[in-house]
Amino acid sequence: MTRAVVGYDQGDTPAPSVDMTTTLGWFAMPSPVLTASGCAASGRELDQFFDVSTLGAMVTKSIMLEPRSGRATPRMAETPSGMLNSIGLQGPGIHDFIEHDLAWLRQRGVRTIVSIAGSTTQEYEELAKILRPHDGVDAIEVNISCPNVADRGQVFACRADTASGVIASVRRSIDPSVPVLAKLSPDVTDIATIAVACHRAGADGLTLINTTLGMVIDVDTMRPALAGVTGGLSGPAIRPIAVRCVWQVRQALPDMPILGVGGIRTGRDALEFILAGAHAVSVGTVVFHDPSAPKRIHAELASELAARGFSSLSDAISHAHRPPDAESLEALEDDEINPPEWV
Ligand SMILES: Cc1cc2nc3c(=O)[nH]c(=O)nc-3n(C[C@H](O)[C@H](O)[C@H](O)COP(=O)(O)O)c2cc1C
Repeated sequence: MTRAVVGYDQGDTPAPSVDMTTTLGWFAMPSPVLTASGCAASGRELDQFFDVSTLGAMVTKSIMLEPRSGRATPRMAETPSGMLNSIGLQGPGIHDFIEHDLAWLRQRGVRTIVSIAGSTTQEYEELAKILRPHDGVDAIEVNISCPNVADRGQVFACRADTASGVIASVRRSIDPSVPVLAKLSPDVTDIATIAVACHRAGADGLTLINTTLGMVIDVDTMRPALAGVTGGLSGPAIRPIAVRCVWQVRQALPDMPILGVGGIRTGRDALEFILAGAHAVSVGTVVFHDPSAPKRIHAELASELAARGFSSLSDAISHAHRPPDAESLEALEDDEINPPEWV
């Protein structure tokens, strides 16, 4: 059995003997639990609740070239099992980010994945060039769920050619030793096609998934609840969609590093993503009401793995894709003879 290599101080809970180390390509992490972009800014607030340098990595809020104040309010609405947001990439711009947030993360020794966003391919390229000489960027996550101003506001991530165009330009502009992760949208007909296009364009890994487009109508005012009308749905409501995306992309690209994200609240939820094919997970919405969630989810995931006899996280990755065993085959044959009533 491999001995425990657990990234967090487990407090009073005995640490299960599970090696929790993982990698996203050649980026190694002591924990498979990361933050999700936009849900923990650059980590200063979270650091009051637990030591953020123990995270697998901090994924920062998507940063654009210039400062932005985001969309009009109201820009958040609660939904059953989820949340709708139309924040609209509010942020200080890349230069301020480098000077303050990146400097703080570096000084704190936090593994950092910098998320970038743009409204043209050239903007993404420019962001990558600006980041290139700076230390403390362990990987780049490219948020391509943004409207492309050169294409009537069509979202980059929704077409294979525009998604891969952005990834190719970031890949050639950033230091070759820095992994590039493409963050995909679930709002497409076939996510595997987009994933394969990004892989061919030089993505070293994929983050699956961004929020899915939703809408809430306030039945008292009888108008859309968000000023921006539509927004991104996150939280437990989207978890089955995210798990399905991880599963489909894992089948299309068996060796691609995947960072799974969408509705994770517990270690058990995280385990679903690992079994579907993710190497690591990001947690977002849960952090708003439980800022210590990344630390808790790490400990819970270690226990869930130990309870199933795994001595290392890596052994569990993609485990749900294994061929059916004799028992399941028998059940399948039974179904063929006696099909379930709902078929
Ligand atoms: C308030 C809010 C802001 C977000 N901002 C970003 C962002 O800046 N960039 C990005 O790629 N994703 C952003 N996301 C999406 C999350 O990173 C994540 O993909 C999504 O919320 C699903 O995970 P969750 O259900 O754990 O929150 C944001 C989500 C929320 C709720």
